[in-house]
Amino acid sequence: MREHPTTRPATRRRSRVVPSVLLASAFVLAACGDAEQNALDPAGPYAQAPHDLITIVAIIALVVFVLVQGLIIYSVVKFRTRKDDDGSLPVQVHGNTRLEIFWTVIPAVILAVIAVPTVQMIFETMDEPDEEFMTVEVIGHRWWFEFYYPDHDIYTANELVIPTDMPVRLEMTATDLARSPDRGVLHSFWIPRLAGKQDLVPGQTTTLNLQADEPGRYLGQCAEYCGLSHVNMRARAVALNDADWDQWVEDQTAPAEIPDEGTLAAEGRALYADLGDGRQACASCHQAWEGDANRAPNTGPDLTHLMSREEFAGAIVDMTEENLRAWLEDPDNIKPMQYESNGIGMPNLDLNDDELDALVAYLLTLE
Ligand code: CUA
Repeated sequence: MREHPTTRPATRRRSRVVPSVLLASAFVLAACGDAEQNALDPAGPYAQAPHDLITIVAIIALVVFVLVQGLIIYSVVKFRTRKDDDGSLPVQVHGNTRLEIFWTVIPAVILAVIAVPTVQMIFETMDEPDEEFMTVEVIGHRWWFEFYYPDHDIYTANELVIPTDMPVRLEMTATDLARSPDRGVLHSFWIPRLAGKQDLVPGQTTTLNLQADEPGRYLGQCAEYCGLSHVNMRARAVALNDADWDQWVEDQTAPAEIPDEGTLAAEGRALYADLGDGRQACASCHQAWEGDANRAPNTGPDLTHLMSREEFAGAIVDMTEENLRAWLEDPDNIKPMQYESNGIGMPNLDLNDDELDALVAYLLTLE
């Protein structure tokens, strides 16, 4: 039998300590960087409730931690090997029924106590809100979130615009073949400062409540691995005060502006409908609703009021003329989708400079 070495060479020990410390610091520093998605900084009641629960559990866990670690450190110090030890073992104890019952019952009681507020919190945050609330339908696509407001017949993408101080109930699902070549995979909607996270499941409807106490922009993301650009599937909740909310609804329910004839934007509008050269038209996936009777959703993000949003492409880039142009020129360079191999996302349309100019000019009119 091989003899186990009692001590490791010092160099080997150090070689593990250094990466461990580096890794630990990386985690600590990473936590500082992304305050926008800090679940420990709740901005509404549906984020406050789980935060309060975490606080209670963390305090209990801290007491247990200090107690257990304290006893370990005490034992290690008190019963350490001393210089004058003759190497004999102290009296060995086997089994102590009273102690064993004690340390089985205590954790069971702690868990039972924690279960009460946990179950309560789950039901309170999942139930339909008692007060007046607004429903928004959420559809997870690869790789962006679509929002539909049934009360106002508004379609939008990436930015979930909501009134401040009112519960919003999300009814969520993921795409299926009826709407898109994207067969639908799991996604998860998570705006950490406003609510917990909830999965979006093809063929099912899940719900999630959220509410913002203050106007502002709250960053979130897809929290369920959904393929190539999962990491680029962000979401933004935008809470508006009452006046801004009313204005937003009014703007969004209006049809898209039609650019004046003879302008560059009008040229872009024509290209949008028909690119020619056998290329797929923008209009075959997107919608810029111009007021006709049927405002049916399309497979790609609704562009009717594109410029009212501050971010696009899964809320990963700012809505600027420069970024729109870069996106149209080579979408995969901004958000890898590989449309050519899987038919999902935005294709590269092989646009020349004149076409890019015209299309961007048109998109800029969709306010
Ligand atoms: Cu959608 Cu990850």
